[in-house]
Amino acid sequence: MRTITTITELRRALALQREQGKRIGFVPTMGALHDGHLSLVRQSKQQLDVTVVSVFVNPTQFGPNEDFSRYPRTLDADAGLLVDEDVEFLFLPSVEEMYPPGNATRIHVGQLGSIFEGAIRPGHFDGVATVVTLLFNAVQPDTAYFGQKDLQQVAVIRQLVRDLAFPIEIKIGATIREPDGLAMSSRNRYLSVREREESLALSKTLFLVRDLIHKGASIDEAKIIGNREFQRISPSGRLDYLAVVDIETFREVTSFEREDRPEWPSAIIIAAQIGSTRLIDNVLI
Ligand code: PAF
Repeated sequence: MRTITTITELRRALALQREQGKRIGFVPTMGALHDGHLSLVRQSKQQLDVTVVSVFVNPTQFGPNEDFSRYPRTLDADAGLLVDEDVEFLFLPSVEEMYPPGNATRIHVGQLGSIFEGAIRPGHFDGVATVVTLLFNAVQPDTAYFGQKDLQQVAVIRQLVRDLAFPIEIKIGATIREPDGLAMSSRNRYLSVREREESLALSKTLFLVRDLIHKGASIDEAKIIGNREFQRISPSGRLDYLAVVDIETFREVTSFEREDRPEWPSAIIIAAQIGSTRLIDNVLI
């Protein structure tokens, strides 16, 4: 695996690969890698000729009171995992490389960026869209991989690619869960033993609400029961939202006719604060 820290060097190295007819897969990450990231890496390794993984904790997607400074940075372990997966390139830029002095341009993603996660974390998705644009320009991949766990981010990236005409295919990897159901996330390592138990409130609530809806409950009924289930499992947790949304627009769905929408392009989304850790999860309906 070759580690590269500048955009210029990365472009030069990848241009050589393209000249040889190689197709490039890209997995952007903020590091603290887990099996969710590695499943995306494996897809890229299987489907393309060369895989680039970036590790960059992006300051512009964190709010002033969020966890940028304490976000886990586990570079040696990350690099070891990527070597084991036979990744060809690790892109490891500094903050100054990505945002040199005087930089000012930001991508504003519009309405999609201001609801649900965007309402609670103002500016978050503009920061994500800005860094992903920078990374796409640096790597110029054929295909880029994102995890379904961050479903609203997926919708934002799809819109970004459509709106700015990036010639990049976006592929989504299924959420990878711990055996007890908790969605894998770099932030899970913040949880104390007690909070780890309470964190199951997210996945258990989602699975219950999905079952209720599949059995014919209305969305409102299912959400009321889901709220109760959340509080039962996590009495000290704060549920930020539990909603059914269209997976492209993130507009809330309040009822649906199965006959009208046979594919049900909807998801149940949840976000909660467990102790000092904010967790999100979703399941498709
Ligand atoms: O999902 C993430 O880890 C980040 O939001 C991303 C896409 C790497 C951008 O910083």
